[in-house]
Amino acid sequence: MQNFKLISPLDMHLHLREGEMLETVAPLSAETFAGAVIMPNLITPVDSENRLLEYEKAVREAIRPHTFEPFMTLFFKKYDRDFLQRVKDKIIGIKLYPAGITTNSESGIKSIEEAAPTFSAMQELKIPLLVHGETDGFVMERESEFIAIYRKLAQTYPRLKIVMEHITTQAAVDFLDRYENIFATVTLQHVLITLDDVAGGLLRPHLFCKPIAKRPEDRDALLQAALHAHPKLMFGSDSAPHPIDKKESCGCAAGVFTAPIALQVLVGLFEKHGCLDNLQNFISNNAQKIYGIVPPHKVIHFKKENYTVPQKIGEVVPMFASEELAWSVDNFQH
Ligand code: NCD
Ligand code: ZN
Repeated sequence: MQNFKLISPLDMHLHLREGEMLETVAPLSAETFAGAVIMPNLITPVDSENRLLEYEKAVREAIRPHTFEPFMTLFFKKYDRDFLQRVKDKIIGIKLYPAGITTNSESGIKSIEEAAPTFSAMQELKIPLLVHGETDGFVMERESEFIAIYRKLAQTYPRLKIVMEHITTQAAVDFLDRYENIFATVTLQHVLITLDDVAGGLLRPHLFCKPIAKRPEDRDALLQAALHAHPKLMFGSDSAPHPIDKKESCGCAAGVFTAPIALQVLVGLFEKHGCLDNLQNFISNNAQKIYGIVPPHKVIHFKKENYTVPQKIGEVVPMFASEELAWSVDNFQH
C-alpha cells in the first residue's frame, strides 16, 4: 500500500501548555488532528470558569487557521453542583490527579473520599471523569495498585464515565472489560517501548514519562488492544512537551513529545501488523462513540515516503528525533 487516509483523527489526551510553548506545539497537533482533549495541568491549573475560558481562548488563537476542536477539561478539585451545571457544556470532562504524582499536580486530591460529592454531581450531570491512575507506591506498581480505586469508583458511581488515562499495564487492559463505565486512553510510546528502552542502556530522558513504560508483557497487551481497536480504548498521545534543558538535566521532567509524529508512526505500526483497517476506529470512531462527540470533518492523507523527524522543534525534542519514518503526511483538506 502506498497511500492511506484517516478521517478526523482525535488525540484524546494532549498537553498544549501556555505562552511560547503553546504557540510552538499547538499548530503541530492542529495540522493533522481534528481535535484533542486538552489537559488542565498548567502551572496555575485550569480550575475556575475564568481560567477555563481564558485558556480556551489562548488555545483557539494558537491553532488558527487550522480546523481543530479543543475539547477543554478542568483540573479536578471539590466543585459544587451549581458550578458544574454552569460549566458543563464548556468541558468534555474533569481530570483528576492524585496530589504530586506528575507534572504540576501539587494541588491534586489527597483522598478519593473527600471528592464524593463532586463525583455524585458529575455522575448526575453526565460529566466524564478522566483519571491519572497512579498511587504513590513503588513506581512499577503504581498503576496496578490504582486498579482497586478504579473498581471502587466504577462500582460506587455506575453511571459516571471513567477514563483511565494513558494506561501502561496488562492489568489495566484486562480491567477495561470488567465494568461498563470504564474506558481508557493509550499513548504511542506505551504501545512501542518498555522500561528497557528508557533505562536499560544509556538513560534516554526523552522517553521518560509518567506513568513509566513497563514490562514487555504490558507493552504487548497494550499493543494488541490498540491494533484490534478495543472499543473502549482511544488514542491519547499524552504528548507532553518540556524544553530541552528540563529533559537533558539532572532531575529530568516527565513527558514524551509525540504530537508531530504520532499519526505517521501509527500508520506504519498498524500496517506492519496487518491491522490498518482498525486504525480509523482507534484514532477517532471509538472516541466519538465513547464521549458522544462529533469532531470537525477533516481528511488526512498519508503517503509511503520517508520522513526524517526533526532533531528539535522549537526547544523540544520529539520522539524519534533525527530518525526516518516510513510514512509521511501528504496533504490534508478540511
Ligand atoms: C505530563 C506533563 O508533563 O504534563 N507528563 C507525563 O509524563 N505524562 C503529565 C501527565 O500526564 O502525567
Ligand atoms: Zn498527560
